[in-house]
Amino acid sequence: MKALAVASEMFPLVKTGGLADVVGALPTALKHHGIEMRVMMPGYPAVTAALTEPKALRAYDDLFGGKARLLAGRAHGLDLMVVEAAHLFERPGNPYLGPDGKDWPDNWKRFAALAVVAADTGKGEIAAFVPDIVHAHDWQAALAPAYLHFAVGPAAKTVMTVHNLAFQGHYPASVFPALKLPASAFAVNGVEYYGGVGYLKAGLHYADAITTVSPSYADEITTPADGMGLDGLLRLRRDRLTGIVNGIDTDVWNPASDAHLALTYVPRNFAQRRQVNKREVERRFGLEQDDGLLFCVVSRLTGQKGMDLLVQCLDHLVGLGARLALLGAGEASLEADFTKAAARHKGRVGAVIGYDEGLSHLLQGGADAILIPSRFEPCGLTQLYGLRYGCVPVVAHVGGLADTIVDANEAALEQASATGIQFAPVDVPSLARAIERSVRLYADRKAWISVQKAGMKTDVSWEKSAARYTMLYKNLLHRS
Ligand code: ADP
Ligand code: GLC
Repeated sequence: MKALAVASEMFPLVKTGGLADVVGALPTALKHHGIEMRVMMPGYPAVTAALTEPKALRAYDDLFGGKARLLAGRAHGLDLMVVEAAHLFERPGNPYLGPDGKDWPDNWKRFAALAVVAADTGKGEIAAFVPDIVHAHDWQAALAPAYLHFAVGPAAKTVMTVHNLAFQGHYPASVFPALKLPASAFAVNGVEYYGGVGYLKAGLHYADAITTVSPSYADEITTPADGMGLDGLLRLRRDRLTGIVNGIDTDVWNPASDAHLALTYVPRNFAQRRQVNKREVERRFGLEQDDGLLFCVVSRLTGQKGMDLLVQCLDHLVGLGARLALLGAGEASLEADFTKAAARHKGRVGAVIGYDEGLSHLLQGGADAILIPSRFEPCGLTQLYGLRYGCVPVVAHVGGLADTIVDANEAALEQASATGIQFAPVDVPSLARAIERSVRLYADRKAWISVQKAGMKTDVSWEKSAARYTMLYKNLLHRS
């Protein structure tokens, strides 16, 4: 079976979040199930530069205002199909934002172009790769199922995966004619969303199957509280919606061979060897050296991630004798809050504002616990990295965090099945209590090590989830 994944980011070429990790890891995971997956993505400078032996498969004279080509090639061991369109994608830096930090004004064109080329491929127009399935990730790829729905003749089946419902791709109705969809598509039963065009809405409406990245999030998004205006549509299509938890790339994230660690380790010797990494974290974050609980954060600094709640808990955290090493970037006010907190609690709170892949690995290998107080979390990957690295996840009881962590309550501790600490509701008092619980648990060395061990034993690989995607693809093909 052949599947085309369509996405705007892929690790290690372009990454702003977990979407990139997932898109980069799925093809290898699916290969073991007999699925040949190629990834189609925009030809950002970092992508075209990495492509080896590029071959032009198709030329477009006018793809949303300029010439374009579809290239096939390899990068980092993966087969890629790249939409090369200088007028749309040849821009350095963040894939979505211009130098002013705002969305590129032509994002509607850029991601419609990606979808047009994906749909052409899904229609079998590119002889070199005729997919059975077109798998669209998030709003940037979400028009592909719409275009394929209106295809004349045979076409690939479509899957729409929601990684984050907060990003939907809304544009004014005036863009609709340029999309060249049939006029009938501008309707509630189509791409229309409150008088404008909704890209993700279109994907959710037209896709043959919808997935999201955890079963709990699949439930949550069908409720008005978490459905972000799309819960009605999702309730209507509930029978087509499944939650499949993400795995992680266990080669990239492997404490036994991770070059970003000061010292690598295996489950047999982790306790002493992680100490060496802890010393290195302290050094890199300007923290005092001690053996008390060291929390870390690796996160986008946004409201979704509950970072404002954490800011309000920092005095308490430090008062309990714990420390925090934070790596993150995002909203300017949160960046400023953490920078200020680091100055106020010199040696106890350290903040590195920025994006640093290597440092994110070191934190997982050296900090004792990772704090994830998200208000909502479709899946979350940093808690999975934490499990694998023995960095105990302290998480809000939402979405994928609820599905992947076993709370260290008494019963779970007794059975040695606890892998972390969960808290609810997601507010300041309850986060403060979770921090207290962590400090108490840490003081009980035997219990803490048992939680670390249970985490390190948890299967966080793609194996089970790749089997679920494979089943989903097969069912779609059989249905036709
Ligand atoms: P989201 O995609 O919502 O940001 P995830 O937990 O799924 O959340 O994925 C976040 C990914 O981005 C993880 O791989 C995490 O390690 C990485 N990440 C987030 N912030 C940073 C940062 N400042 N530096 C390095 N890596 C980061
Ligand atoms: C999104 C979500 C995150 C998820 C990631 C990959 O960015 O916010 O929870 O892990 O996508 O699916």
